[in-house]
Parts: sequence; C-alpha cells; structure tokens
Amino acid sequence: MRILITGACGFVGSALAESFLRRMEGLTLYGIDNLQRPGSETNRNRLRSLGVSFFHGDIRSASDFENIPAADWVIDAAANPSVLAGVQSGFSSRQLFEHNLASLVNVAEYCKLHKAGLVLLSTSRVYSIPALAALLLKSAGDAYQLDCSQPLPAGVSAEGIGRDFSTAPPISLYGSTKLASEAIALEYGEAFDFPVWVNRCGVLAGAGQFGTPDQGIFAYWINAHLRRRPLRYIGFDGAGKQVRDAFHPQDLAALIHAQMRTARQGGERVYVAGGGPPNSMSLAQLTAWCDGRFEPNPPEHDHRQRKYDIPWVVMDSTNAAADFGWRAELALPDLLEGIARHAIQHPDWLERSGL
Ligand SMILES: NC(=O)c1ccc[n+]([C@@H]2O[C@H](COP(=O)([O-])OP(=O)(O)OC[C@H]3O[C@@H](n4cnc5c(N)ncnc54)[C@H](O)[C@@H]3O)[C@@H](O)[C@H]2O)c1
Repeated sequence: MRILITGACGFVGSALAESFLRRMEGLTLYGIDNLQRPGSETNRNRLRSLGVSFFHGDIRSASDFENIPAADWVIDAAANPSVLAGVQSGFSSRQLFEHNLASLVNVAEYCKLHKAGLVLLSTSRVYSIPALAALLLKSAGDAYQLDCSQPLPAGVSAEGIGRDFSTAPPISLYGSTKLASEAIALEYGEAFDFPVWVNRCGVLAGAGQFGTPDQGIFAYWINAHLRRRPLRYIGFDGAGKQVRDAFHPQDLAALIHAQMRTARQGGERVYVAGGGPPNSMSLAQLTAWCDGRFEPNPPEHDHRQRKYDIPWVVMDSTNAAADFGWRAELALPDLLEGIARHAIQHPDWLERSGL
C-alpha cells in the first residue's frame, strides 16, 4: 500500500502518518506540505525519521505533483483550517479559496492519473450557522446542553449533529470551501471511477497540535493556561458555556483505514466523525480541568459576539458506527492529559505555533 498525505506536516497529517505506520505493515508513505502553517516545520524531520518521503511543495501548483510517485490512496489534509480564515487580516479570502478549494483539482487529477482513492477531511463547519444557532439549548451548570424536550430539527439528536443536518448558507467562507470540495471530490470519483470517502470531522485535538485562539482551541487553551497568558471567554455572555466535542487523529486513522479496506462500490460516501457527547466539554469546564492540573488562571469575560461563533457543536458519528463499527476510542481526559504533558515539555509551543 502506498499513501500520499497532503498537509503531511500539519497536526492531523503528521498524526495520521504516524498512526498508519503503526497499523499497516509494508506501507510506503509520501507527504507534501508547503510549510505555511507556523509550527509545521517542526514535523518535517519527525516524518523523515519515520521513513516518510517528504516533498516540500504546494498543492496549488500542478507541477509540484509531478515528482511524487504513484500512490494507491491520497489523504487530503492540506488546508487553512480556521473558520476565520479569509475574513480576518493575514490570510485573504482569495488565498483561502486557492488553498482550500482550487488546489483540490490538482489532488483530484493526481487521483485520476494514478487511479488512487481519495479521502477528504471535511468539517462540522459545512453545517448551517443559523440552523445551529437556532437549536434550543439549556444551561446545565457551566455548559450548554441540547434541550431534547422540544422537537428537534432533522439531522440532530441527543447524540449530536448527524450527516443530514442542514448545510444551508451561511456556513462561513471556510465551511463553503469544504462543502464545495466534497461535491468536487465525489464528482471526480464518480466520473473517473476511483473511490472517494468524505469525513466531516468535529474538533480534532491532541498533543503536538499548533494552538491559536482561532484554531486548535484545546491545545491553545491548555498551553495558554499553563503559561498564565490572558484567556477570554468570547461571546455567549462571556460565561464560557460554549461546548465542543473532540477526538484524536489516531481514531480518525482507524476510520480511514476501515474505509480504505472497504471494497463496496457506491452507497454512502459522506460520514460524520467526532468525539460525541462523552468527549464534549465547555470552555468553562476546560478551564476547571486546567485549574486542577495547573495553577488557576481565570479567563476574562468578553461579551462581544464574533462572526461564525456557535454555542454548541457535538458530532453524531452514528453513520460511521453503523457502516464501520467506528467510534472515538481515546477518552477526553486522556486526550487533555496528552496535551498537558506536551505543553509542559515544550515551553515555547505557543511561539512555535506562531503566537
Ligand atoms: N483540526 C481540526 O479540528 C479539524 C477539524 C475538522 C477538519 N479538519 C481538517 O483537517 C485537515 C488538517 O487540519 P489540521 O488541523 O492538521 O491543520 P494544520 O494547519 O495543522 O495542517 C494543515 C497543513 O497543510 C499545509 N498546507 C496548507 N496549505 C497548503 C498548500 N497549498 N500546499 C501544501 N500544504 C499546505 C500547512 O502548512 C499545514 O502543515 C484540514 O483539511 C482541516 O480542514 C481539521
């Protein structure tokens, strides 16, 4: 088996590479990354030491694929993954579309040329912001909870947001690059007869993630708390009750591995993957966890509401469970402890992550 990972030096790409090498004997791994994400350079030597053939290149450039040997599968993990990308300074909307969407043509053409399967890492951000914001929530201590005593819209249940939840715009510029990528990837697979799997991932988190306030929130929060940097609960009355679930890329690797082994033609191609209700917590609960693990560092209360902020996102991976027997195995406390240990061992992690 030969696998090409785009964005191989990113948090998810590099963690997938490591997991695949542990799971699959005789695997040949290729990786491409333009190293634009601050911190990604850190993973370049790590990948090389694992035996990954690394190509320093940009997936926006068709010719950067010319030197990469044929692979059986491509895992597309190259993107700017911030929901604020394109609307805040430092990364224009045009850049966002070039990196996250236009580049997909080069990836898909590579798959077409080599008859390689394609796994696209999509996101919970393909779901409708107004529909998510309209979900009825109740406060349960210091966290929001879905109010299941009322009728729920299609695609959402006590298990979380499932595949069929509304994707009606607005979904953010970032979300739209992913939703459009899903359609393009699926059409290429259909037209040129190669398998495509789309995984709409909830928050991925773990040790070694490059954390910033916009992206990699669990890693950012734990690193910033440990170093007594100022933290802020932004929006939702500044109370920190907003909730996310999280899962580790090693669990995503298990799902992708199962998908790559599936001979099934046709049928469902789009899956939801996330930590689910057992692996969810609010920012305030994360702070309490950090207070217990380190010294207290109380966040400021910032009542400003930011564009694209959503109070509650928990992913329902029922369709991945039904078709692949998949669920996230690594429990949230273990995942947080991994980040905490890594944070202690890497005192300059926030600077390396570009802060
Ligand atoms: N981290 C999450 O919580 C999360 C959740 C859902 C989906 N995803 C998706 O998973 C994928 C990986 O995310 P991540 O958290 O590892 O992000 P990351 O920023 O850590 O990694 C992305 C990598 O892609 C590289 N890259 C970006 N543009 C490139 C280009 N044009 N050519 C080559 N390399 C390029 C970056 O340098 C970086 O190393 C993304 O597609 C993201 O949208 C992530």
